[in-house]
Amino acid sequence: MRRIIISTAAVLMMAIVPSVVMASAAAYPKGDGDLANGKKIFTEGKGTVPACNSCHGPEGLGDDNMGTPRIAGQFYTFLHKQLEDFASDKRTDTTMFIMNANAKGLTEQDRKDVATYLASLRKKGDTKTSNLEELKAAGITVGETHKGKSLVYWGGNDKGIPACYSCHGFNGMGAPPIFPMIGQQRYVYLVNQLKKWRDGSRANDPKGAMQAVARKMSDEDINNAAAYLTTTSFYSDGNLHTAYDPAH
Ligand code: HEC
Ligand code: HEC
Repeated sequence: MRRIIISTAAVLMMAIVPSVVMASAAAYPKGDGDLANGKKIFTEGKGTVPACNSCHGPEGLGDDNMGTPRIAGQFYTFLHKQLEDFASDKRTDTTMFIMNANAKGLTEQDRKDVATYLASLRKKGDTKTSNLEELKAAGITVGETHKGKSLVYWGGNDKGIPACYSCHGFNGMGAPPIFPMIGQQRYVYLVNQLKKWRDGSRANDPKGAMQAVARKMSDEDINNAAAYLTTTSFYSDGNLHTAYDPAH
């Protein structure tokens, strides 16, 4: 009996130790800004800058009607880069023409604070964003998830489209500090951005990496990849945690 208890403990130790090491090697960048100020900006805005939740939804999960992205639970490093890129006009918001003004209306510290707050909203477990059936019913063209899955996992070999997985991580859960979470992102936003990378109206990607990918994609490829990514899970069968689950 005693031997059984000891060996169970040993197995448990072996299971725990590597996962702790892995989690620290791929830490979730959460930022070190002021959470309280970040939350205030998100819910109340500041000066001429409207509250972020008025467009990005009460929980920051985006809105397909407005074409806004989910910003809650994205990596700090990526959110912060986007806000800096809007502030310096490296990236142009061609959807509502307001993110550039919003970013410029905040101080450098405010941008850090709000990015820190948004990153702090990452939760364990999958998050639902777009509902593909509702989008179809509203007349929006929706791609096929099984074809999208193939693109995300293996790419489009015949056209040289690389697997999204290779940069954005398993099912697009992100690979910090550079590659954003694109899984569980809003469908309409994903489609819009892929088209913007393709026609060059968004060009703030390091070394043009994303533009090169999107230029190889047809409208169908874009719709398919977006449909799969929106509805995907970050947990493979039997896997109860991901490298970027928050500790709490
Ligand atoms: C009037 C609506 C509106 C308001 C208010 C707004 N946003 Fe946005 N935001 C957008 C739209 C639209 C986009 C997508 C732009 C595009 O298509 O390129 C966006 C994009 C972003 C992105 C890029 C996300 C990504 O995944 O690349 C960030 C970050 C962001 N907003 C943060 C904020 C913050 C922080 C606030 C509050 C200070 C805010 N937004 C307020 C409409 C808004
Ligand atoms: C060679 C690496 C690489 C590959 C492969 C790649 N991406 Fe990206 N992707 C990036 C980088 C880097 C960014 C961040 C650019 C930035 O800083 O704004 C990005 C950003 C994006 C964004 C914008 C996210 C946001 O929130 O604004 C989308 C959408 C996207 N990728 C979709 C895809 C899809 C779909 C695939 C597969 C067909 C793919 N990517 C394959 C490197 C890659």
